[in-house]
Amino acid sequence: MLNPFSKVDISFDDFRLSARKRLPKLLFEYIDGAASDGSGEAENRKIIRHFRLKTKALINVEQRSLNHKVFRIPTKLPVGIAPMGMVQMAGVGADEEFAKFASKYEIPVGVSTAASMSLEKYAEYSRGYAWFQLYYMADKAELEKLLNRILMAGYKTLIFTVDVPEIGFRPNEIRNGLKVPFKFGPKQIFDFALHPAWSLKTLMNGAPKFGNFTDTNSFNRGASRAGADWDFLRYLRDHWPNKLVIKGVLNTDDAINMKGIGVDGIYVSNHGGRQLASAPHPIEMLPKIRKALGHDVHIFYDSGLRNGEDLIKAYALGANFAFMGRPWSLAYAANNQDGIENYIDYLCKEISVAMAMIGRTKIEEICFDDIYFK
Ligand SMILES: Cc1cc2nc3c(=O)[nH]c(=O)nc-3n(C[C@H](O)[C@H](O)[C@H](O)COP(=O)(O)O)c2cc1C
Repeated sequence: MLNPFSKVDISFDDFRLSARKRLPKLLFEYIDGAASDGSGEAENRKIIRHFRLKTKALINVEQRSLNHKVFRIPTKLPVGIAPMGMVQMAGVGADEEFAKFASKYEIPVGVSTAASMSLEKYAEYSRGYAWFQLYYMADKAELEKLLNRILMAGYKTLIFTVDVPEIGFRPNEIRNGLKVPFKFGPKQIFDFALHPAWSLKTLMNGAPKFGNFTDTNSFNRGASRAGADWDFLRYLRDHWPNKLVIKGVLNTDDAINMKGIGVDGIYVSNHGGRQLASAPHPIEMLPKIRKALGHDVHIFYDSGLRNGEDLIKAYALGANFAFMGRPWSLAYAANNQDGIENYIDYLCKEISVAMAMIGRTKIEEICFDDIYFK
């Protein structure tokens, strides 16, 4: 029987609150956390709220569709799953469910180098909707081996992340003693004991680990990637035959140079504020980068998108396709696959209402003209 007093999660903040109750603090703060004082993540959200959408009256908007396209491939939703390392920290089976969700709705799912399920399984469960996300690797022989493996698994799109020369300074991770693979001291044991539902299920299924590497020592999450440079990007462009997207771009000069090197997509993002609290606001950089690049390069966006109106703004400000990170993991942590289905269901309802209010019936119709610039 339905409990009339049970809480229903509808908004991002509802799901976040449920996730916070369910997850050990160490893990909640890994997913939810940000660099330095956390202000980068808070600012991402705040600045998106400042943009106003232009409402339009008396336009027939009866037939609205949330279908869209990414690299000319149809999608059933206008939002993708940003690459996230170790999503199994949100709960057992998270990677598999993300991949299946991507397959069901025909949307891209980012597969982090630090994913907790192998890139081959991601390709299989997503039925080819997975995009592999690469971090800089100094060892060219290892890199070529990995690129070959990604190609053999059938990946059509590679995302190269350029905003992690060093992993962000995140005080909560240091305070909580987060280590992958997990290291258990009294503090962590106490934290896990306080969240038995998550802990028992996880411990029965084995603690989260890196899915792309069988030897736990062959991938170091905290390693320096400061050697990445423009020569490396040219090398990558020469050695990766399919679509290449550069993630973590926040200035027009970089974007123009990348376009010159022949990349297929520029992914505007500040890593959700996880790398540098004082980085530029990505939503403000998005229209500038769009203006600088014109329309012959795809532009992707993430950072701070939490609801349907936010997504409309990302499209209005120049994105060809928008992604979210934390919302997926926190909705999964809140209530497994039902969590993500419910969250996305409400998100879509909100997108649809917002489209009606601004007089748009298709995602591709949304443009600069829908933003009210004072
Ligand atoms: C738990 C977590 C892990 C992440 N791991 C990666 C990663 O391995 N590679 C990457 O390029 N970005 C990673 N990101 C950044 C996301 O791809 C994305 O840029 C960010 O989450 C977007 O901001 P949002 O969370 O506000 O939507 C991670 C983000 C989170 C929350």
